[in-house]
Amino acid sequence: MKKKILFLIVPLIFSLLAFSDASAAEKGKQVKEKQVRKVIHYTPPLEYSRLENPLTKADPKTLPDNDPNILAGKRLYEKTCANCHGIRGDGKGPEADGFVTPIRPVDMTDSEAIAVLDQSYVLWRIDEGGLGEPFYSAMPAWKDDFTETEKWQIILYTYKNAGVSPKAK
Ligand code: HEC
Repeated sequence: MKKKILFLIVPLIFSLLAFSDASAAEKGKQVKEKQVRKVIHYTPPLEYSRLENPLTKADPKTLPDNDPNILAGKRLYEKTCANCHGIRGDGKGPEADGFVTPIRPVDMTDSEAIAVLDQSYVLWRIDEGGLGEPFYSAMPAWKDDFTETEKWQIILYTYKNAGVSPKAK
């Protein structure tokens, strides 16, 4: 009787092991695919590309922690952007892994992300999000959710928080 049970159990264990191995490999593949999808930048509409941050000409990275625009931007960023882009801007917010699309929230500290963009591009992305062409992503649109001043404050903080400077105009 004992032998019979062993005959049943041993193959079962092996097949379970093989199965878990295969699904781990599949998961690994998915993670890799996610990682190779690099951030893609497009040409923003002219009404955005000509804009400059009206709040300050200073490099946001150099603004002090207690700058009023940085403080306001921090509060808004932490409430609305950090869930996805992470409290430190590293793209590792608590919701970041929950996407069905292969495009993850951008790591703002990446030298190829907002560091190669000027502030008006970021304004465009905040306004329009990623729901439509050309992005097709889960990035929400915030056009009517903030005043223009609030949007520029978020932008200043997003750069400062990530420790990167915007591309000069
Ligand atoms: C629900 C998750 C989510 C939230 C919340 C979110 N984003 Fe995003 N964001 C994304 C995803 C996903 C991408 C990458 C795909 C894309 O570019 O649309 C992205 C991309 C971006 C980009 C493009 C960066 C680049 O290098 O092209 C900017 C800028 C951005 N987000 C800023 C913000 C700001 C600022 C907020 C808060 C007001 C915010 N996001 C809130 C998901 C989110």
